[in-house]
Amino acid sequence: MPGHSGTARVLTSFRACLAGSPATWTCALIFCAVLVRICVAQPQASAGQGSQAAFSPLPARPHGDPAKIALGRMLFFDRRISRSQKLSCASCHDLDTNGASAAAMDRGDSGRATAWNTPTLFNSVHNFRFGWKGSTRSLRAFTLQALTTDHLMGGKDLAARRFAADPDMLRRFRKLYGSLPSDGAVADALTAFIGTLVTVDAPFDRWLGGDRTALSPRQQRGLNRFNVLGCASCHQGANLGGNIFQRRGIFHPLGKPDPRYLRVPSLRNVAVTPPYFHDGSVASLPEAVRQMGRAQLDLAISDRDAADIAAFLTALTGRYEGTRLRRAAPGHAR
Ligand code: HEC
Ligand code: HEC
Repeated sequence: MPGHSGTARVLTSFRACLAGSPATWTCALIFCAVLVRICVAQPQASAGQGSQAAFSPLPARPHGDPAKIALGRMLFFDRRISRSQKLSCASCHDLDTNGASAAAMDRGDSGRATAWNTPTLFNSVHNFRFGWKGSTRSLRAFTLQALTTDHLMGGKDLAARRFAADPDMLRRFRKLYGSLPSDGAVADALTAFIGTLVTVDAPFDRWLGGDRTALSPRQQRGLNRFNVLGCASCHQGANLGGNIFQRRGIFHPLGKPDPRYLRVPSLRNVAVTPPYFHDGSVASLPEAVRQMGRAQLDLAISDRDAADIAAFLTALTGRYEGTRLRRAAPGHAR
C-alpha cells in the first residue's frame, strides 16, 4: 500500500531528524504537518483502490474431465430426463441466448410454475452457494436436486433407468463411472458441463485488464455511480454478486417481505436476463436499479444515474462459444 510506505518513510526521517543534533520544534512541526496531510489523503486513496479491488476479472474457464463434460453436454439437452420427455435442462436454461428464459416463472414437468425466476447458468460455477436462497454449497448437490425433484423433472432414478435401457448411454456411463447410470453419475456429468458455462470477453473484464477504452464515457460514469452509491458493497467479486447473503428490503420493502435473506445475485450478463428479482417482478433494468437504490440503500436514484448504471451493467455481457449472450425469446420454455 503506497499510503503505508509513505507513512513509514516520514516516520523514518522523523526519527533521523530527532536523532540529529538538538531536535528543533520547527522540525517536529513540519513532520506533524506532513503526517496529517498523509493521514487525510489516505482515506481518499484507499476509497479509490477499494472500488477497484471490489471486482476481479472472471477466472479462466475451469478445466474438467473432457469426457465427463461431453457426456454432461448430451445430458443437458436430453429430454428423457423429464417424466413427459418434453423437458430438458435447456428448456429453462437456454444456452443459445442467456442461460435462462424470458418468463417470470417457468413451468416444471408437472405443469406447475416454479417458485423462483429461472437464473442463468452462465458463470454460476463462480457463485459461493446455489439457488436464490443459496441453499446448497456445492453445484453438484444443486444439480442433483434439480434432476430428482418430482415436479421439476422426473423424480428419483427416472433418468438413470431410462439411460440404463439405452446401450449407447450404458456404455458411456460404464466407461466413465464404472457402473450403471445413476442419479449421482448423471448429476456429476451435468455439473462438469455446467462448470464450463463461463462467459468471456465482457467489456468490463477488458476494463479491469487495463483497457481504458473498453467502457464508454457513460458506462464509466455508471461504474462510478455504482461504486459511490454503494451497490458494490453487495455486488462484488468476480461475479459482481454470488458471494454473500444479504437482507432484502433493508430500508423499504422490495415487493413481498419474504424471503428476508437471499444470496446476492450475480450481475454478470444481467442486461440480457430480464425479468429481474427472484420473482421476476421487474421487466426493465433501470427500474430494477431504482428499486435496489430505494430498498437496499435508502436512495432515490435519479433517472440519469439509473440509465448510466444500466449502461455500465451492459458492459458485463460476455461471450459463450464466440457469441455474445442475448435476451431469451419469449415462449422458449414451455
Ligand atoms: C422448469 C424450469 C427449469 C428446468 C427444466 C431446470 N431448471 Fe435449473 N433452475 C430453475 C429455477 C427456477 C432455478 C432457481 C431455483 C432456486 O433458486 O431454488 C434453477 C436453478 C438452477 C441452478 C442453480 C444456479 C445458481 O447459480 O444458483 C442450477 C445449477 C440448475 N438450475 C441446474 C439445472 C439442471 C442441471 C437442470 C436439468 C436437470 C435444470 N436446472 C432444469 C428452473 C429450471
Ligand atoms: C444490501 C445489499 C445490496 C445492495 C446495496 C444492492 N443490492 Fe442489488 N440485489 C441484492 C439482493 C439481495 C438482490 C436480490 C433481490 C430479489 O431478488 O428479491 C439484488 C438484486 C439486484 C438486481 C437484479 C438481479 C437479477 O438477476 O434479478 C439488480 C439489477 C441489482 N440488484 C442491482 C443493484 C444496484 C444497481 C445497486 C445499487 C443501486 C444494488 N443492486 C445494491 C442486494 C443488494
